[in-house]
Amino acid sequence: MTKSVFILAGDGIGPEIIAEARRVLDYVIATTGEVITVTDGLVGGASYDVHGEPLTDATLDQAIAANAVLFGAIGGPKWDGKTDYDKRPEQGLLNLRQGLNAFANLRSAVCFPAMADASSLKREFIEGLDILFVRELMGGVYFGQPRGIDTLADGSRVGYNTQRYTDWEIERVARVAFEMARKRDNRVTSVEKANVMESGVLWREVVTALQASDYPDVALDHMYADNCAMQLVKQPKQFDVILTDNLFGDLLSDAAAMLTGSLGMLPSASLSGDGPGLYEPIHGSAPDIAGKGIANPIATVLSLAMAFRYSLGMKDMAERIENAVSTVLKNGIRTGDIMDEGCTKVNTRGMGDAILAELEKN
Ligand code: IPM
Ligand code: MG
Repeated sequence: MTKSVFILAGDGIGPEIIAEARRVLDYVIATTGEVITVTDGLVGGASYDVHGEPLTDATLDQAIAANAVLFGAIGGPKWDGKTDYDKRPEQGLLNLRQGLNAFANLRSAVCFPAMADASSLKREFIEGLDILFVRELMGGVYFGQPRGIDTLADGSRVGYNTQRYTDWEIERVARVAFEMARKRDNRVTSVEKANVMESGVLWREVVTALQASDYPDVALDHMYADNCAMQLVKQPKQFDVILTDNLFGDLLSDAAAMLTGSLGMLPSASLSGDGPGLYEPIHGSAPDIAGKGIANPIATVLSLAMAFRYSLGMKDMAERIENAVSTVLKNGIRTGDIMDEGCTKVNTRGMGDAILAELEKN
């Protein structure tokens, strides 16, 4: 059966890091006999510059038709403040997530053994860290209506957004978290702010009821988001699966990423249940280093590994790629963001070379 991957490199460091993942993908195609078609499209500022919008309908249709969408990064100073809100590069990504119905965003914060000293926390707090975030990706304040910037009768301006969750939106993402937990340490921490937000009250109710009815074997606890932020830097290893909403998930996963040594290390998968999965590094477009060829491509290569696992039915290949990355790190090969004493510093291409060389050995 032919499988297909649609690549959207996007802006900033996107094209550079995608190029390395692409080499890994080409290597897999060349060596396994799997028939995987690969096509490219434009998204974000790159699409805006050509088409006047950050994601065209034709591009979204191509994404929907693929088995997996591999995404680089989006946005940059070139487009900041220049365009209407709905023409901003970031809107291209949000529209893509919505168009793919990608409601469950899996972000795993795993600390590679070789990286334990690169964390801002002491080794003992980090070694063996393995947290899986299940972030709701299609609701909450990112999409809630009403939203806007209005001028009031007295002339003052007001900006507003709506945090909004229906019970079924909460339930479908909670289900993913419980299912994932069963394949891991069987524990879910559900995170909201039920102490100040009604959406959080409903969130807690729905998650509690679902656990009682369908997942009594999975341990569930609840935590306020501010406490979770604190616990993440205090005792990060206490967590197994963290289930949370769109905005809290955005914030908390960035913090957890840094625990593992660098934002440049963390991949993500956004799943819908039926449509294609969307795979992207959790970091952004890093305009400050874009075009220099020094960005860390590991998060993108690991995102490709997740695509093999969740969308392409090639779990073994996912593991091979993850092991190759782990070995490269163990061998002291480092991009600038994770450079450490006694290690060998490489650029983006050099890291891609090292990962490919490891893959060839196994
Ligand atoms: C992320 C990013 C996006 C988000 C931006 C680029 C829209 O920060 O994937 O975490 O906020 O979801
Ligand atoms: Mg983010």
